[in-house]
Amino acid sequence: MTSPLVSTDLDRAADSLRRGGVVAIPTETVYGLAADARNAAAVQRIFAIKGRPADHPLIVHLASAEQIVDWAASVPESAAVLVAAAWPGPLTVIVPRADGVLDEVTGGHDTVGLRAPAHPMTLELLERVGGGLAAPSANRFGSVSPTTADHVLHDLGALLDPSLDLILDGGACPIGVESTIVDCVATPPQILRAGGIAIEDVRRLLDGDLTDADGPSRASGMLASHYAPHCHVVLVDDAARASALRATTPGSDILDFGDDLVAYAHELYARLRDADDRHLDTLIAVLPPPAGLGHAIRDRLTKAAAPRPR
Ligand code: TXA
Ligand code: MG
Repeated sequence: MTSPLVSTDLDRAADSLRRGGVVAIPTETVYGLAADARNAAAVQRIFAIKGRPADHPLIVHLASAEQIVDWAASVPESAAVLVAAAWPGPLTVIVPRADGVLDEVTGGHDTVGLRAPAHPMTLELLERVGGGLAAPSANRFGSVSPTTADHVLHDLGALLDPSLDLILDGGACPIGVESTIVDCVATPPQILRAGGIAIEDVRRLLDGDLTDADGPSRASGMLASHYAPHCHVVLVDDAARASALRATTPGSDILDFGDDLVAYAHELYARLRDADDRHLDTLIAVLPPPAGLGHAIRDRLTKAAAPRPR
């Protein structure tokens, strides 16, 4: 697919952000839909384009840890430790918001989510614009996150303004699932969403001082159904069960990467989209083991399989 919206031109992207446009940015996790986090009108456009409830806060993306002081009123010790070890990378810390951070960004909360994404193109863009970029995943609210520029174009292309906005094409996102979110204001710190950095690694960095939100993630307004394709998603524990179910379920196929968690995460969202492109009725997903990236994959699959609100 070619479209005037898709580009690799960082000058055009920086110019768009300065003019109050939105730019879809590649990150190591998923594509984000970014705007200048100090520009209320631009941030409001993100919500309109996504169809996202206004009280769902956005993550502010930074070029480096040095910029945290511009956004956080204080930096809890746990956040300092995690940021030093994991930035740039797939880790978002929730910290007390600084004065002047827009309510549009924080959803009116007294905290703000911050992360430095490990993608060379987007880091270069962040250096050029100098400030923070507010960005949720670049999908319509409730649907599957995009891991390629084509996914963004498919979901949002008709809603973007080619004279202002841009989809920055940085290739396929290497990790494929969103960042791990740690609430560092809570004592002890708490995992709000499993993601690209393993919970086990976060716990080790914090010397065990961490509580785990059991079950589906608490972030994103605590919705049970999210990241969902149109087809039914049915979860099973092993490949044998998947085969048996497939044999009795017309219009079904199996999603299974065995123990290869890196491949599972990398392919997950593309395969959920593919299931819809193929008009499958049912995707039978084999749950990976609950370790490392497996936590995030299980969380997303559980949400994809949850009953949908009408
Ligand atoms: O990997 C990622 O995190 C991607 C890329 C683009 O950076 N971003 C992403 O954003 O997944 P989004 O908006 O789709 O998910 C961010 C989650 C939301 O569920 C939001 O509610 C939560 O983070 N969040 C953001 N700020 C928060 C805050 N101050 N307190 C609690 N939750 C927060
Ligand atoms: Mg999202």
